[in-house]
Amino acid sequence: MVLQTPSSVRFPTARMRRLRSSGLLRDMVRETTLDSRDFIYPIFVTHGRGVEDAIASMPGVSRLSVDKLAAQGRELLSLGIPAVLLFGLPEAKDEVGSGAYDPDGIVQRAVRELKNAVPELLVVTDVCLCEYTSHGHCGVIRNGDVDNDESLELLAQTSLSHATAGADIVAPSDMMDGRVSAIRATLDAEGRTNVPIMAYSAKYASAFYGPFREAADSTPQFGDRRSYQMDPANVREALREVQLDIEEGADIVIVKPAMAYLDVIARVRERFSLPIATYNVSGEYAMVKAAAQNGWIDEQRVVLELLTGMRRAGADMIITYHAKDASRWLRQ
Ligand code: PBG
Repeated sequence: MVLQTPSSVRFPTARMRRLRSSGLLRDMVRETTLDSRDFIYPIFVTHGRGVEDAIASMPGVSRLSVDKLAAQGRELLSLGIPAVLLFGLPEAKDEVGSGAYDPDGIVQRAVRELKNAVPELLVVTDVCLCEYTSHGHCGVIRNGDVDNDESLELLAQTSLSHATAGADIVAPSDMMDGRVSAIRATLDAEGRTNVPIMAYSAKYASAFYGPFREAADSTPQFGDRRSYQMDPANVREALREVQLDIEEGADIVIVKPAMAYLDVIARVRERFSLPIATYNVSGEYAMVKAAAQNGWIDEQRVVLELLTGMRRAGADMIITYHAKDASRWLRQ
């Protein structure tokens, strides 16, 4: 007698449609979840008072002044979104990005305001110099190039000033080599041993950052970021970047952008066990919004499908400008 092993079960015995035949069954066999608790909402903080300055290429997203943050934070919590990622637009820029590590800088003030007004909200700060340097690069310039090692001290000081202001997590996005260990060492030396580092480990030199650079006024004034951000063609290199950042002390790694890099998320997920975040960036948001405004796609279904895809690829958390809308839709 020949025993039938499960793998030899074929049509008509095996019918894939059986488990798709009702909503209840589909809910029961769903492999991936999407929840507002997975989201991190990016916020652009600007100087001034009472400012809510809409960003043209990112419909629904505005630059907010510090006094507007408490209300924003409360809205996010009410939607079930646990965390924000802060970016700062300083009043003035200089060659060495002083505004980034100024104890009274825009992000430092924003952190104090949020932790004071809405302490239950997790505050993540983007650590980078590009919004604060007159040349728009993510480090200091020496002989026409971004000087890696000299930039490390400034990034570490920036991280420390964020932690001192009360940041829950620091997220370096500059892509300098050795920044994670420089930041970890500085935080630890100052007693901030419990502040995690969420490293933008696999950050690609992407055209999808266009609307962000307009919003944050951080376009490089010469050249581009290809000598420090990754080549979009590479995935093994991303695994090396992640490996190095883990060895240097990263607690969470980021893959960025998301949509064109789902395979990178999946490869990182397969190889490493630490939490992964992905950044669904400004250009990805802008494309979806533009198509939706033209009536060419069903925004709600497209957004939830994209975010589900990022989770299915292996991301634990998603940094996304869609967070508020998606959270509302998920509650319906
Ligand atoms: C700063 C930074 C950028 C983004 C996040 N952090 C811009 C860049 O690297 O040019 C992009 C985020 C987005 O496009 O939404 N280095």
